[in-house]
Amino acid sequence: MNSSLVVRASEAAGVAGSDRTVLDHPSEAAGAAATEEIVVVDYGGQYSQLIARRVRECGVFSELLPHQVAAREVAHRRPKGVILSGGPASVYADDAPSLDRELLELGVPVLGICYGMQLLARELGGRVDGAEVGEFGRSRLTVALAGRLLAGTPLEQTCWMSHRDTVFAPPPGFAALASSTASPVAAFECVQRGVYGMQFHPEVVHTPYGQQVLTNFLEDICGCERTWGPSSVIDEQIVRIRAQVGNGRAICGLSGGVDSSVAALLVHRAIGDRLTCVFVDHGLMRKNEGAQVIAAFRDHFQVPLIAVDAANRFLDRLRGVSDPERKRKRIGAEFIRVFEEEASKLEDVGFLVQGTLYSDVIESGGETGAATIKSHHNVGGLPEDLQFELVEPLRALFKDEVRAVGAELGLPERLVWRQPFPGPGLAIRVVGGEATRERLEILREADAILQDEIRKAGLYRELWQSFCVLPDIRTVGVQGDERTYSNVVAIRAVTSDDAMTADWARLPYDLLERIVSRMINEIRPVGRVVLDITSKPPGTIEWE
Ligand code: XMP
Repeated sequence: MNSSLVVRASEAAGVAGSDRTVLDHPSEAAGAAATEEIVVVDYGGQYSQLIARRVRECGVFSELLPHQVAAREVAHRRPKGVILSGGPASVYADDAPSLDRELLELGVPVLGICYGMQLLARELGGRVDGAEVGEFGRSRLTVALAGRLLAGTPLEQTCWMSHRDTVFAPPPGFAALASSTASPVAAFECVQRGVYGMQFHPEVVHTPYGQQVLTNFLEDICGCERTWGPSSVIDEQIVRIRAQVGNGRAICGLSGGVDSSVAALLVHRAIGDRLTCVFVDHGLMRKNEGAQVIAAFRDHFQVPLIAVDAANRFLDRLRGVSDPERKRKRIGAEFIRVFEEEASKLEDVGFLVQGTLYSDVIESGGETGAATIKSHHNVGGLPEDLQFELVEPLRALFKDEVRAVGAELGLPERLVWRQPFPGPGLAIRVVGGEATRERLEILREADAILQDEIRKAGLYRELWQSFCVLPDIRTVGVQGDERTYSNVVAIRAVTSDDAMTADWARLPYDLLERIVSRMINEIRPVGRVVLDITSKPPGTIEWE
């Protein structure tokens, strides 16, 4: 569904007055040049993103750069330190990613983790070899000398390992700090050179002192002040948005999701009423959601908001359509039409606000100078001739950080914590048939009961998504003394980290019982309720 519309991205990314030559990268989007930053050089390890997140949790902005990055590009960020991540390769493999020696000449501390440590060891004259046995999972770490890196942690501790190659001897001039059963040198440091390494993974929760070790690196070794957080993001973004937009006007498509909501609020803080939000109610939202968006933005935050009730138009477009992809396409196309109509009524709008997140940036391979517009409102791309410059204030943030910024901006809890909701909305949950007004209404009521009970049970935030599906079938039942022939509602509740994989949620039986009983008692056309217990894979989260 993503549009490939390329707008004037280099302009969008370039801030007036910036003295940097590399313009289009996330740290720029993070704001002022004064932001303390740690660069994580990614050698392909499964935990690389997690390293960046943990560093941010310690109050220091951090971004991930691919290992091919030129040292001068790292230097542009003026980082306070560099972390070399783990990776799947063996340092001896022919095609193994190598260490750019210039990274060691930046004049800031460098920390190698796992593969990163092995690279350092090999490059600086230590001994790395394949061990007879690998070391995967929980391990025992014995600290011989805490040094600066392991200061304040116990002599015996648990840590998480995942490696086969091992450092047998540290480079000359380095102190070996700790060992584990399979790693003679599990951590080392050379304070004079500002180079540090650890074989274990401080970023995973199974390393109980991991955060302490990272804090040692950030605070004591790199001298970071650890001031990065939601409020500093807000301050930085306001400066940046003002610099970008100047006296111009911006438009933002609000979907009710947390990303577009937080992006809109940030831009509104920066440029006030020169931002207009457009909320297209396609009639496929959940119960009361449209009203909540309008109440929050127009009434509470007093953001100029055009709310378009376009339900009839969308229902017309969906008439007779049962194929899911056709539904999606029609909804996407209609959305663009409505959005464009509204945009064309506004004068002098030069900027389009988008809630692009850092995970979108990483997924699309990072920055190369041209930005790909994220599908607008998640329902479809905007047309190519819509020449707006992009404003993407969340481009450097992970989802949970966006939520924290949203909370700091005073966004209502319901919007901050809203579960992901597909752009085409309830239309793709009326499965195998046409999304008529009547069927959408049944689904909306069932969904409202599900959400209500899940919230009351305190489970809403634990679930990635929870929703109902209305398949196009009827089943026989008996209610009172009458036989019925009515609809089936399916309950789908999943846990997930990123929607790539998902597991069905083990909802308590008594909760399920309450939900079923309410659905059948309160929604006349519902006669049966089933629970979907398919994980992803092999299933998908949505049914169509
Ligand atoms: P699946 O069903 O592929 O869904 O496991 C993965 C995630 O994507 C969401 N989803 C959509 N989001 N437009 C969207 O904006 C769509 O057409 C769409 N289809 C699925 C789904 O809700 C889940 O979070």
